[in-house]
Amino acid sequence: MSIAVAIDGPAGAGKSTISKSAAKELGFIYVDTGALYRTVGLAASRRNIEPVAGEEVNNLLESIKVELTFNDKGEQVVLLDGEDVSAFIRTPEASMMASKISAIPQVRAYLLDLQRNMATTNNVIMDGRDIGTVVLPNAEVKIFLTATPEARATRRYKELVEKGMDVKYEDILQDVITRDYNDSHREIAPLKQADDAVLADTTEIDLQGSIDLVVGIIKERM
Ligand code: DC
Repeated sequence: MSIAVAIDGPAGAGKSTISKSAAKELGFIYVDTGALYRTVGLAASRRNIEPVAGEEVNNLLESIKVELTFNDKGEQVVLLDGEDVSAFIRTPEASMMASKISAIPQVRAYLLDLQRNMATTNNVIMDGRDIGTVVLPNAEVKIFLTATPEARATRRYKELVEKGMDVKYEDILQDVITRDYNDSHREIAPLKQADDAVLADTTEIDLQGSIDLVVGIIKERM
């Protein structure tokens, strides 16, 4: 039987970096579900489609192919109609588009099987917003990873500056607050801690400390 670890939490809590390292340490596959929403968001912006529920979005979903693959280093690569779109889905605009498109029920339904299938055949650490509540409600381990909006904005700001992007801290903080609001107030699969999830707050903990904390929680429950 395969083991599933669900890690949910708000944007910028360090979910992907921490989950990736924890997966490596435990020999699990890491699945970043946010990349799937970002990819659908990118498809919508490329076609100038407004991210609101309706025919246009239905037609979009019928006409695109989103695939979850892994490269030879074991890293996730999401393909949009066969194209590796990794380089296009990490900008602040793509983040906002992903947040909007992820509130649409058809989009969530469209991506559900893709996510669940990954967990049926592999030991996975899957991160997102609704993994422990909706995608994998029977996951063996559930962790809700969070930090204050300021701590999360500071981390994201540094990340983007290191990539050479010209961004302002205040804009990033505002984006974090807006996305938190959107992600936790949408009607379908809102961001919330599952009743049986362990809360991990990384505001005062550095990266290595956060990885150790998460790996410790997983090992304890496995
Ligand atoms: O984790 P991320 O920042 O890459 O996610 C991008 C957006 O996708 C985020 O605003 C919320 C949404 N998302 C979601 O609704 N459900 C998930 N399981 C993962 C992401």
